[in-house]
Amino acid sequence: MNLENQIYVRKSCRDYLDGEIDIKIIHEFIANAKVLNENIDYYYEILTPDKLNIRTPWKSPYYLALFSEKRDNYLENIGFVFQQLCLFMQSIGIGSCWVGMASLKKRNPDFVIVISFGKSNNMTREISQFKRKKLSDISDTEDERLVPAQLAPSAINSQPWYYKHVGDGFDVYQAKQNFLKRQVLKKWNPIDVGISLAHMYVANPDSFEFFTKSGFEDIKGYTYTGSIKI
Ligand SMILES: Cc1cc2nc3c(=O)[nH]c(=O)nc-3n(C[C@H](O)[C@H](O)[C@H](O)COP(=O)(O)O)c2cc1C
Repeated sequence: MNLENQIYVRKSCRDYLDGEIDIKIIHEFIANAKVLNENIDYYYEILTPDKLNIRTPWKSPYYLALFSEKRDNYLENIGFVFQQLCLFMQSIGIGSCWVGMASLKKRNPDFVIVISFGKSNNMTREISQFKRKKLSDISDTEDERLVPAQLAPSAINSQPWYYKHVGDGFDVYQAKQNFLKRQVLKKWNPIDVGISLAHMYVANPDSFEFFTKSGFEDIKGYTYTGSIKI
């Protein structure tokens, strides 16, 4: 199972087949996924569309509802853990899409976001079809090692991540949005940053480390998320 290859071919899947999925493989994968922060409790449920209020014009046969305790970097942690799952599912013919525009019919204060998923034969593309910021726009200096982060999916393709070189690693930041965009993106952008960190981990599984520190540089227009070694 090579998850890294999926980074360069994946796309958000909005076109599903009806086939049943063996849910056991999802549970097994998540039990072994890497987390950003060991101290945060999170959990998930697999639901059918009738359990959700879905505001997208398309539906999938299954949805993962993601829940978390609210602690430091919990949104990044959710993005980090479940993007690994999305890449894994993609590698076995299951397409997925993060869906901000859906909520649970049964309220739960731990609820974070849902991911649609299901069998699909429309979930890959050529690398030339990715619409992404330039490497020089997501980092202080252009660095090919950041391509996996560059290609990550994000809410309305906002790509809020910024990687600053520090020693042999990076300090990672999230772009501040203007007032109007902030209303929509404030919950999703930290998830997006976690998703891009997942791509950096999957591309560097043996050396990746995430940590937070106090001595980081303030960069105007960005907030510090944490630091990585790859
Ligand atoms: C946190 C988050 C929320 C998203 N919400 C939606 C959504 O509600 N509806 C939708 O169609 N796509 C949604 N997406 C998918 C993005 O639109 C998509 O990732 C982005 O446009 C880049 O395209 P790609 O994933 O095909 O590379 C979401 C993605 C993320 C990461």
